[in-house]
Amino acid sequence: MTVSISYNRGVAIVTIDNPPVNAASHAVRAGLMAAIAETEAADVSTVVLFCAGRTFVAGADVREFGQPAMEPGLPEVVDRLEAANTPWIAAIHGTALGGGLELALACRYRITLVSAKMGLPEVHLGLIPGAGGTVRLPRLIGAEAALDMVAGGKPVGARRAFELGLVDRIAEGELLKAALEFANSLHNSSPRGALIDIPAPQIKDKMKWAAQVAGIKKNLRGQNSPLAAIEAVENAVSLGAAEAMTKERELFLKLKDDPQSLALRRIFFAERSVGKMAKLKGVAPRDFANIGIVGGGTMGAGIAAACLLSGLKVTMLERDEDSLSAGLARVIGTLEQSHSRGLIDADVLANMQSVLTGSVDYAALSDADLVIEAVFEDMTVKQEVFTRLDAATRPNAVLATNTSYLDIGEIAQAVADPSRVLGLHFFSPAYIMKLLEIVHPPKVADDVLATGFAFGKRLRKIAVPAGVCDGFIANRMMSAYRRECEYMLEDGALPRDIDAAMVDFGFPMGIFAMQDLAGLDIAWAMRKQQASGRAPDMRYVDIADRLCEMGRFGRKAGKGWYDYSDDPKGAVDPSVEELILSESSRKGITRHTIAPDQIIERILMVMRREGQKILDEGIAESADAINVVMVNGYGFPRWLGGPM
Ligand code: 3HC
Ligand code: NAI
Repeated sequence: MTVSISYNRGVAIVTIDNPPVNAASHAVRAGLMAAIAETEAADVSTVVLFCAGRTFVAGADVREFGQPAMEPGLPEVVDRLEAANTPWIAAIHGTALGGGLELALACRYRITLVSAKMGLPEVHLGLIPGAGGTVRLPRLIGAEAALDMVAGGKPVGARRAFELGLVDRIAEGELLKAALEFANSLHNSSPRGALIDIPAPQIKDKMKWAAQVAGIKKNLRGQNSPLAAIEAVENAVSLGAAEAMTKERELFLKLKDDPQSLALRRIFFAERSVGKMAKLKGVAPRDFANIGIVGGGTMGAGIAAACLLSGLKVTMLERDEDSLSAGLARVIGTLEQSHSRGLIDADVLANMQSVLTGSVDYAALSDADLVIEAVFEDMTVKQEVFTRLDAATRPNAVLATNTSYLDIGEIAQAVADPSRVLGLHFFSPAYIMKLLEIVHPPKVADDVLATGFAFGKRLRKIAVPAGVCDGFIANRMMSAYRRECEYMLEDGALPRDIDAAMVDFGFPMGIFAMQDLAGLDIAWAMRKQQASGRAPDMRYVDIADRLCEMGRFGRKAGKGWYDYSDDPKGAVDPSVEELILSESSRKGITRHTIAPDQIIERILMVMRREGQKILDEGIAESADAINVVMVNGYGFPRWLGGPM
């Protein structure tokens, strides 16, 4: 039964059981309507709304959004629940999100586990709450805090929810037991009224409100739903509840058909499906409790931190004691940062430090289950490392490389059994970036690949399968549009024109600012390696090489495409612009203005063309996979769905 009722000494317990996340599907809604009617007719003082499985209702069932409406709708159920003649208590564990929180707001009381989270994340799907959330929440916690939650979409933890007045109690011990105790404690108190009957909240400080609204608008980057969120909360303040509710519904329905919401919903489901390779169904992964990491530089240290933060044991291997100390210090620094930002407790930090070890001797990796190599991007160095790993590790240990561009099949030739080698391509910083490309060389064994995906899941990454080619999916796409941007530099645009056009389009930063952030030297080294194989008639732009020759490696050097000496955000550097103009004239190119929309058009065209080739070659499994990679790896505006 999707919704069932049991009774406990005068209290009814209505349980929703709709795995995996108890989404408010048609069966849940219909079941709740029946449960409301049945409990009204029963001799009970209170009803506890409880959910089976890992979470409270995590929202409306988004998969139903594209289908014809099925009665009863969620707004109707929420209204009916609020009007029930018996007080309901929402007992919340896991996440009460979107329509789930709206159901909880229709209950008279809310009790939660301390680990629970509550929020209205609809803006992340290009929507706003559509079942009264924007009208009831301000009445409970005030317009200001409600605006934060509705327009920002970020859930709050139980303690914060308690401070805000969103929940009445944090359960000690078992949730259902605590909810029943709460229900019994209400016997003699006069029943609390419905939120909808509370007068509209007032804005306390109009200046502050204006600043809050301005802050949201400043970060819109072309997104529609946060604007609708502001409008809905302002309606809740200025209009009567019924009218505000009608307006909320209108806004919700309009957004539901907005291309931005369609794109965001598609990406949401694509992120959850791209990692499910059909051929791995039922294939059991190998163990990966003990992780070895070779190389403790930017990536090795970042990957180590990501593993430790996910509860795995890490042994770092470096080429000498100094590099090892530096690598371990990088990891500890990252963990300490997480602690000082309140993300991990002191005892968790201490525990992570205790399972982090380091060595310069490969023997330390003899009981590693999975070793990830992150040394210099050089085939000889990598093959040497894999030869030594082959000798030092257990024959069934999985060996992974974090290479950005190199042929993983060739790296695997250094190992007697190449079926245990795959690519785990992280993005920097590895403990933050969600994307992980799982690169499958031709000889990799299925259970090794399955281990890659299980490992990605453990690290809470979005794992996307990719075939072997120069740059896999993400870097190959990036190289293609970077090349096009460099052509545009010679043709007439300046870095600031291209970066501004990209930011206006919705990227968090432009390609040149991004290169400065990442460092120009890695790509330079790669271009030097590839120089001999480059076709003489291929158009090649030298400007980035000239910058590197001047030591302009980007932010870390104080200068790159921009100058960071006085302005941490990077100032336009006339000498770079002179260099660009002189390169155009050296090549006999007559420069012409390239308008922002033409810049974007050229970038998108190249992305689509390269994406199509990636698909045709079978490097990516679907266009959605490329979209997911570009959104999560290179900041393609999510609400535009991706280049494909
Ligand atoms: N509708 C339908 N399916 C959903 C769903 C939803 N709201 N939320 C999650 N799922 C599915 C996922 O697609 C996935 O399916 P799969 O197993 O077939 O791939 C499965 O549930 C598990 O999801 P996750 O892999 O994301 O599981 P996690 O444990 O990592 O995260 C979660 C759980 C935090 C609930 C996360 O899934 C999430 O954020 N979900 C979306 C929540 C949301 O946006 N709610 C608002 C919906 S809109 C709404 O409520 C409108 C209302 O105001 C009228
Ligand atoms: P890095 O230069 O910061 O770190 C490399 C580390 O490897 C150094 O600490 C060095 O001492 C160590 N090392 C070198 N040779 C070694 C050996 N033989 N044995 C043990 N340790 C050795 O480089 P970074 O940026 O961390 O890159 C590492 C790998 O990750 C490269 O293959 C790179 O292409 C890839 N990568 C880099 C990304 C980035 O943004 N920096 C993103 C994704 C992948």
